[in-house]
Amino acid sequence: MAAYEYETHEYDVVVVGAGGAGLRATLGMAEQGLRTACVTKVFPTRSHTVAAQGGIAASLSNMGPDHWQWHMYDTVKGSDWLGDMDAMEYLVREAPKAVYELEHYGVPFSRTEAGNIYQRPFGGHTTEFGEGPPVQRTCAAADRTGHAILHTLYGQSLKHNAEFYIEYFAIDLIMSEDGVCQGVLCWKLDDGTMHVFNAKTVVLATGGYGRAFFSATSAHTCTGDGGGMVARQGLPLQDMEFVQFHPTGIYGAGCLITEGARGEGGYLTNSEGERFMERYAPTYKDLASRDVVSRCMTMEIRAGRGVGAQGDHIHLHLNHLPPETLAERLPGISESARIFAGVDLTKEPIPVLPTVHYNMGGIPTNYWGEVLNPTAKNPEAIVPGLMAVGEAGCASVHGANRLGSNSLIDLVVFGRAAALKAGDVIDAKAPNMTLNTASLEAGFDRFDGLRHAAGGTPTAELRLEMQKTMQSDAAVFRTDKTLAEGVEKMTKVAAKIDDLHVTDRSLIWNSDLMETLELTNLMPNALATIVGAEARKESRGAHAHEDYPDRDDKKWRVHSLAVVDGNKVTKSYRPVIVKPLTKETDGGIDLKKIAPKKRVY
Ligand code: FUM
Repeated sequence: MAAYEYETHEYDVVVVGAGGAGLRATLGMAEQGLRTACVTKVFPTRSHTVAAQGGIAASLSNMGPDHWQWHMYDTVKGSDWLGDMDAMEYLVREAPKAVYELEHYGVPFSRTEAGNIYQRPFGGHTTEFGEGPPVQRTCAAADRTGHAILHTLYGQSLKHNAEFYIEYFAIDLIMSEDGVCQGVLCWKLDDGTMHVFNAKTVVLATGGYGRAFFSATSAHTCTGDGGGMVARQGLPLQDMEFVQFHPTGIYGAGCLITEGARGEGGYLTNSEGERFMERYAPTYKDLASRDVVSRCMTMEIRAGRGVGAQGDHIHLHLNHLPPETLAERLPGISESARIFAGVDLTKEPIPVLPTVHYNMGGIPTNYWGEVLNPTAKNPEAIVPGLMAVGEAGCASVHGANRLGSNSLIDLVVFGRAAALKAGDVIDAKAPNMTLNTASLEAGFDRFDGLRHAAGGTPTAELRLEMQKTMQSDAAVFRTDKTLAEGVEKMTKVAAKIDDLHVTDRSLIWNSDLMETLELTNLMPNALATIVGAEARKESRGAHAHEDYPDRDDKKWRVHSLAVVDGNKVTKSYRPVIVKPLTKETDGGIDLKKIAPKKRVY
């Protein structure tokens, strides 16, 4: 074994990641008196949730009639009938409770005249099971909702004595011989020391892997670390082919302009000044679901109606809105538009382009956050001691396409659910398991191997090759040809992991090594994505396949599973859960309302 000294820490729970899901899980665990550590590679309030702008969905009915069943219908339709009904019902029914909890913890939501939480319209959120007008369901703190939530949850977690290990990089899970998760091996970035966290439960809350692509709204820290750790244990990733493009990333910079901009009355135009969404989605127009809007923008550009010198982007107009509304409801994007596009949005449109934003796929879990291994002999079995929440996990509530503002609610509902489950199953008096030394050694050996990697390919070069391939071959529109080429290229790119060259061998603030570890996490996520996309011969949600333009429920209403080993991917499928939690006769949703049908907005 590579010779490293290390310190051992014993906890009931170790949460890896301090974004919205990680902090909500940490807080929930600590509130129940479980000894809880949160390990994070960035300072908690710098986690990517801080960038979430538009809001958090819950049927509070503060601005007009709403109902959890309407929220469920919209989520099912948004998912293009790939989401699991039990998890979706849990999400939408728990959502109001979870938002009121946030309010009581101190989140400074924007307010209505009457003093209630302000809610705005968002794409795909409707009334009357898609038959009525758009609903104002998205609870907002101006356009800095994620920022407000993150700061509040961090403060509350500290108040409840959760312990934070900040700027610790999680290298690998430690698993027993019979597949129980026992802890995680970490590297402390600022002093180079190594740390072993031994816990009864490890919760992966490591976020998405947007940085597998060249242009993304995601922070540079979104490197799929949880998915990478899980893949290295031979466990599957689920529904990885579904990658969301947000319609309004700033052209050139990729920064997010919230969908809340269209919720407040913004609209898109092409080079002819036409509000083209009226043509494609006559009912909900600019507030159609994100995958739909992104595709329509791409079609306008392809048809030669893009704006700008190259005709390669679209305009988002807010200049018709009262400056007071912009200042009060959208102060953050007013600043982003000025800094990143040089635009005064009270006067001019913002240049925008669909940009990678969210991963619907991830580590398969049930709706308590417990990790599943559907490729095992017993496909219902959980992986003992391991949970995954937030964008890292796949419960699956978003199916093939997530609705805007359903992510923040996913973070807090399932972060909270994981804590409730842990409170039930963890015996805090029982001793922790003795760590499996072979698994620990494997983690140290991998770390040491990368630290001394002396091949011919610098990390940044290989990362760029991966990002460019994913951007061009796993794009908004996909074809058999682009996907087959993409799989071939990515298989070669992934093989080059064995040829990496790390220049800096030190252990203190070694960003070369950290980025290399991150690249080894991005790679299995990227490979599973393109292989899953190549295999799925239909169009569904964010997976728009030009050779198979229709959804094929008979053959493809299934979750895909990918076990990644080096540059090889083994694929399999599992059924979608079509039974909600509550029977219709006991007050559950009318099954006819959520039966598959053509998805139009
Ligand atoms: O547009 C936005 O504010 C993003 C929200 C989301 O992805 O949920």
